[in-house]
Amino acid sequence: MNVVILAAGQGKRMRSDLPKVLHRLGGRPLLAHVLDTARELGAGRICVVYGHGGEAVREALDADDLVWVRQEPQLGTGHAVLQTLTFLDADAPTLVLYGDVPLIGAATLSRLVGLAGSGLGILTEDLEEPGGYGRIVRDEEGRVQRIVEERDASDEERALSEINTGFMVAPTPALLRWLPSLDNNNAQGEYYLTDIVGLAIDEGMPVATTQPDAAWEVLGVNSKVQLAELERLHQYRNALLLMEQGVTLLDPDRIDVRGELDCGRDVTIDVSCVFEGRVVLGDGVEIGAHCVLKNAVVGAGTRIAPFSHIEDAEAGSGCVIGPYARLRPGTKLGADVHIGNFVEVKNSTVADRSKANHLAYVGDATIGRNVNVGAGTITCNYDGASKHRTVIEDDVFIGSDTQLVAPVTVGRGATLGAGTTLTADAPPDKLTISRARQVTVPGWKRPAKKKPA
Ligand code: UD1
Ligand code: CA
Repeated sequence: MNVVILAAGQGKRMRSDLPKVLHRLGGRPLLAHVLDTARELGAGRICVVYGHGGEAVREALDADDLVWVRQEPQLGTGHAVLQTLTFLDADAPTLVLYGDVPLIGAATLSRLVGLAGSGLGILTEDLEEPGGYGRIVRDEEGRVQRIVEERDASDEERALSEINTGFMVAPTPALLRWLPSLDNNNAQGEYYLTDIVGLAIDEGMPVATTQPDAAWEVLGVNSKVQLAELERLHQYRNALLLMEQGVTLLDPDRIDVRGELDCGRDVTIDVSCVFEGRVVLGDGVEIGAHCVLKNAVVGAGTRIAPFSHIEDAEAGSGCVIGPYARLRPGTKLGADVHIGNFVEVKNSTVADRSKANHLAYVGDATIGRNVNVGAGTITCNYDGASKHRTVIEDDVFIGSDTQLVAPVTVGRGATLGAGTTLTADAPPDKLTISRARQVTVPGWKRPAKKKPA
């Protein structure tokens, strides 16, 4: 089939400089969701009608399987589809989708497309408050006669509760006949796609309708309020899918997946976590409240305590991370690693069973196995011009409040005394300490304030 996606409108009520279809739902542009669904349906040809916002929409979402058709000016939905006619395969029906109606389901659309065999198919919906939509006008036998837009409707027609969702499927040769003949003699002075219904009836072509599986599938985004409502719907659906896969969500209303979250068995996620990009959680992973994970891989059995932030990083199995830990890009933790509160790790590898439990900065470091990094340890990786590496071999003990001025290597089994500023390599198996010897100064007096006279 051909799919035409209408995405040329301005979206005035968004009150934004960004074209409406580029606003994000689940971290991705609205239009990207519709493109996914079109591809899921196996569309042979996907034409996107764009216009408002110039080339921004095309640049954001260009792909080999898309035909971009610029509509300028935007003279209505019928005019929009008209622009695509030369790109459509006449042997296949044409399905019309909307760039700002992102939750439409493939199952609903498959049913709609199934109506195309005999003629025109329309997706309709019964609404208690049909205001603003085009109404479906039927005859006494219940056969569709036409669609009338709200602003062109009589009082009687406005009372009809069955509305046009906008989604339609039509035989492509019929569109080739009908669309060039549309006029704009209506309240909005637009070329209405909906007028093809009357044209189909005039030709004696059957017009069939079906309804969406769920009412929310046909909700559109016209304002920031609606965008937020759809975001919650989208997130809740995601949450249901995760729970169906066996993930424990402490509150399915408080999770945000803005990308792809892949979970093993018995994963538990506490409230208010955000997952961005691609995140993979192994079996038995526990994520505490208020964590943010972006492009992260977390090994089986690892626990991430609340308020931790992980980006472009990987943790092995059995690790204990956080609370308040930050793993920055290029971090790779082995198995059973502990990264505690207020510890920042960047572009570093930390091998199995090593620990940095409190208040440390580990940047551009290679840390071996069974290393203990004391509280307040800092790798001084930057000299103001370049970054340098710190190497800490297996079984090292780094005393608290140590600075490792890179490039520097701490040999296997070495111990650094607390407070050391290490500027040269520390040999293996020895205690290295740079601290001045402690003295108690005889006769010293604390300065006293002068008494007023
Ligand atoms: C349209 C339908 C109405 C239906 C409603 C559902 C028509 C004439 N009316 O009305 O029956 O109930 O959708 O939401 O079709 N667009 C373009 N180019 C244009 C005009 C619109 O690409 O020249 C795009 C818009 O970006 C939008 C979509 O088409 O995504 C619908 O346009 P809009 O103006 O919102 O149509 P409605 O008046 O809501
Ligand atoms: Ca609309």
